[in-house]
Amino acid sequence: MSANKLDKLKLENFNVKWDCENILWAIIDCKDKSENTLDIEVLAEFDKILDFANDNANELKGLGLLSAKKNFIMGADVNSFADLNEHNKINELINKAHLIFDKLDNLKIPTACGINGFCLGGGLETALAFKYRVVLNNQETKYKSSIGFPEVKLGIYPGFGGTFRSISQLGPINALTMMLTGKNLKPSGAKASGIAHKLVDTKDKLRWTIRRKLLKLDGKIEKTKAGFFKSLPNNPLISLFIYNKFKSELKKKANPKHYPAPYKLLDIWKESLSDYAKMQKLEKANFAEMMTSKTARNLQRIFYISNAMKGLAKSASNKSIRNVHIVGAGTMGCDIAIHCAGKGYRVTIQDLSDDMLKKAKTNANKFFTKRLKKPELIKQAMTRFIIDKEGSGLSSADVVIEAIVENLEVKQKLFKEVEAKVAKDTILATNTSAIPLEKIAQSMVDKTRLIGLHFFNPAHTLPLVEIIKSDFVNQEFLDIGAKFVKDMGKFPLIVKSSPGFLVNRVLAPYIMSALKLEDEGTYNKETIDKACREFGMPMGPIELADTVGLDIMLNVAKELKLKIPKGSKVEKLIQDGKLGRKTNSGYYNWKKGRPVETESVDKKIDLSEIAHTVLSPLWVEAKLCLDEKIVWDTDKQKSSDLIDGGIIFGTGFAPHLGGALNYMKSLDK
Ligand code: NAI
Repeated sequence: MSANKLDKLKLENFNVKWDCENILWAIIDCKDKSENTLDIEVLAEFDKILDFANDNANELKGLGLLSAKKNFIMGADVNSFADLNEHNKINELINKAHLIFDKLDNLKIPTACGINGFCLGGGLETALAFKYRVVLNNQETKYKSSIGFPEVKLGIYPGFGGTFRSISQLGPINALTMMLTGKNLKPSGAKASGIAHKLVDTKDKLRWTIRRKLLKLDGKIEKTKAGFFKSLPNNPLISLFIYNKFKSELKKKANPKHYPAPYKLLDIWKESLSDYAKMQKLEKANFAEMMTSKTARNLQRIFYISNAMKGLAKSASNKSIRNVHIVGAGTMGCDIAIHCAGKGYRVTIQDLSDDMLKKAKTNANKFFTKRLKKPELIKQAMTRFIIDKEGSGLSSADVVIEAIVENLEVKQKLFKEVEAKVAKDTILATNTSAIPLEKIAQSMVDKTRLIGLHFFNPAHTLPLVEIIKSDFVNQEFLDIGAKFVKDMGKFPLIVKSSPGFLVNRVLAPYIMSALKLEDEGTYNKETIDKACREFGMPMGPIELADTVGLDIMLNVAKELKLKIPKGSKVEKLIQDGKLGRKTNSGYYNWKKGRPVETESVDKKIDLSEIAHTVLSPLWVEAKLCLDEKIVWDTDKQKSSDLIDGGIIFGTGFAPHLGGALNYMKSLDK
């Protein structure tokens, strides 16, 4: 049927078929790409399919969209839009995309799409322009949060009609929550929110369910607007309360000066409420400004850097890691073990102290209960989290991660013992904060097998792991280590084994500069911490020192040969056993894991100046790391990007500034 007419469309990214029941099937399969993403070419082809469907509406029963790839659509192709700097060019593209999605929304025949796996950003905007959506909910996709609007993480908001289509169909609460947080939904969440009309448990059923629905509709087009209760927040009497609630939640997470996009989106909703034509107009009118903002450019830069970091994990030998043995069940060992067990590895955890092991088990149980919720998943994770006082897991371990006290002799002794008990190809890794690997490996027979896997605190949350490379490392072990880190969902960064590696080396002078100002009485700790938070740091430096542990922090500073004045406050606190959060007392007193502020911030003080004074040692040190090739790539710009990525993912350095070196460069301009 009409095969000739279809051939004339000359499509390269879609496979289109007109079946014997008069359903037009469009199977998206973007050419030369591992995932489906929307670029100008793909959108233009989709437009041709829609025109074809409209031209043949008298004969067709409906249009069905499926994906030939593992996932549905990952979003707009960020690469193809990155070079668009001029507002008129962006507006031109946005207007075109709106025309296409409006055409789909108003198609003369019923439409339905089947969502398998990830459906993000522009992918979700595509889906929302279909009248009926079926989502795959099988063993693989069930627990994956794979459907959402990540745009705010790139400094923008949905710009292909996602604002008014989601708000009109899902209701303001569901839609705004998704768009403002950038958090993804699992298939069950997509059903509850109204994105999915039906969940199916096999891929074949996506097509089958769409087919049945389109045949049943027999040309009738259903409405997709949210019901009365879901739309209620659009009522002007209620909307102000909802608006203020969203805004106050937003303020807790993002400074409007640094991250304007979610605030703009919220204002667009407030201005238009249920006037969706107006909302569409405002969405289009404000998009270019967001897209070209410094924040968006910097966040997009971080997105590229994060991909480059994942690319550092080359597929090494075919050794796969399944069994992880962790020595040390303290702050770090416990969290690393929890993260690995949560990711499906079998973990054995060893410690000298029964109490620490007991505590680790309790922590793991608490963590999994909170995160996984479902009893069967919690049970499975706990089965993978094995307390191993005697270290019997060593003999079957694919990787051993040491996270014991930061003491060279103790670590050397441990690795000598461990090496004798493990298989020849077991990766041996230390989580040391600052001790050069060359020193730790001195006790080992085969020094080439020691690598550093330097996690950050809290290890189950912070995304960076520095892969420490000694002078004599066996490259294959290093590659396997990097791949292991990527597979556990973190960003690997290969760093030279030199004191403090990258992240602690830049953090220590920054924290010490803050402690010095506090010690001298120039500013109180609350003021210094607030200044750095306002700058965009996730936590102030003094709170951070308390969180890391003042003893660990001072060890790093000493290893880096930083000047610590005699009789300094930090030394006195350590002598008094006030080590920070872990002892509930340090610079701050800690209650329920939170620092208690005792002094107020002087409102007349210029916080930005304080932040620059305290933070400048961080970017100065970052530049030294670049010059000393601490993180090295043959391309100097790439080394600089990787350093920025490492500092952002390891310290949370103000993402909207695009990294410490990027920011330093902007100061010179
Ligand atoms: P911690 O003091 O909380 O825990 C150390 C654990 O190791 C204790 O439970 C202790 O009983 C156990 N242990 C000591 N010797 C042992 C041995 N021979 N065999 C088995 N267990 C032994 O220390 P934390 O903070 O977890 O640090 C561990 C390592 O991770 C250190 O090298 C530290 O520099 C590094 N690190 C710490 C970070 C932090 O923020 N605390 C961040 C990144 C790395």
